[in-house]
Amino acid sequence: MPTFRAPRGTRDLLPADRAPFTRLERIARDLALRYGYHEMETPLFEQGAVFERGIGEATDVVEKELFRVAPSRGEERERWALRPEATAGICRAYVEHGMQTWPQPVRLTLTGPMFRYDRPQAGRYRQFWQWDVEAIGDPGPAVDAELVVLGARFYREAGLDDVEVLLNSIGDATCRPAYVAELAAYFRRHEAALPDVERARLATSPLRLLDSKEPAMAALVAAAPKITDRLCEACAAHFAAVRDHLDALGIPYRIEPALVRGLDYYTRTAFEFYRHGAEGQQQALGGGGRYDGLVELLGGKPTPGIGFALGLDRVVLALEAAGADAAPVGTPIAVVVGADPADTAGRLAVATRLRDAGLAVGADLSARRLGRQLEAAVRDGARFAVILGDELGDGAVQLRDLDAAAQKLVLVDDLVALLRRKSAG
Ligand code: HAM
Repeated sequence: MPTFRAPRGTRDLLPADRAPFTRLERIARDLALRYGYHEMETPLFEQGAVFERGIGEATDVVEKELFRVAPSRGEERERWALRPEATAGICRAYVEHGMQTWPQPVRLTLTGPMFRYDRPQAGRYRQFWQWDVEAIGDPGPAVDAELVVLGARFYREAGLDDVEVLLNSIGDATCRPAYVAELAAYFRRHEAALPDVERARLATSPLRLLDSKEPAMAALVAAAPKITDRLCEACAAHFAAVRDHLDALGIPYRIEPALVRGLDYYTRTAFEFYRHGAEGQQQALGGGGRYDGLVELLGGKPTPGIGFALGLDRVVLALEAAGADAAPVGTPIAVVVGADPADTAGRLAVATRLRDAGLAVGADLSARRLGRQLEAAVRDGARFAVILGDELGDGAVQLRDLDAAAQKLVLVDDLVALLRRKSAG
């Protein structure tokens, strides 16, 4: 047993584990660029109040799952929390940096780790990675459709072609309070049939009961009043227009009236992404929605906004489950080795020359014998070994093809061009 281990619910991503994340990040970056979303960063921790006010104090994410950060001294003690998601921090930055004076909407994106203190299980971690995308300053409905399309496209480009969009509108301050009251009254009438956890939630967040994964709740939820039948005129028109835009683009989606989100800031459009037939807990591959009141809650002028976050860990798991090829770990085209183990300076000099030319090249800086250096080069996955020996006096080296176990004399001056050709081919 090692003395120290990574904390429960976290994982080290070793090179083979990191590679699929790197691949997904590249796809996300490329898509963001194509859709006009600009990359930014926010701190991994914020004042706790950003999340308490933004996400809602009664949500599980804030009430139970927030990692509070307590430095050992200083007046900020106990005021911070690790970010459990990106939207609140991005909206805090939007207000702080006066982005409401920029051309609207401001399209922003970031990729990075989020932290939630939950019971770890498959697909649920205490540190996980999200690709987050936000369009702040546009009331929609067209931008709502743009974001749904962008999210759906990510999964396709990542190699998952069975991801479905579940869509709903959860109303706004005009129509939701009456609906929530009606829903609470409905569940209160069935209180005896509610599992304990749901009965406890009824007092604080009746909407969340719709999201229950308890089997005993399925029939009750199915018969519950539906928000889609209770939307005010403006919300109903907005929802219809979002659907029209998706229809016009030929994007399939399923209306799911019981889809509510776990964060309090949502208004109107809400959506989630699942693989077909995999809609259980911890299986949402991503989700998002509109948050027309959030910027104001965080001290800005009333500003509409919408966005989503996709869970990269879950996408990696889904790709594995779908039998996708493992993402390759980057390997050097060549490793520079030498007959004189002591001549590390010579090996570094040749490697540096090749690296200056942009080639991915390793250098064996150990004091091992040449045979051992060659074995290590094979283990590194290099295709060639550049072997420094007596020929170096004449400006030449042996270039060994490690797969074919064949080698030939090559002038150092010709190495760059030759390895470039091999890298390309
Ligand atoms: P969320 O639904 O809480 O939304 O999280 C988005 C996605 O992050 C989930 O669908 C899931 O794939 C992944 N995820 C969440 N928690 C975990 C966990 N413990 N372990 C692994 N993956 C997890 C938000 O975070 C909102 N900020 C999305 C948003 C952006 N809405 C508007 N803009």
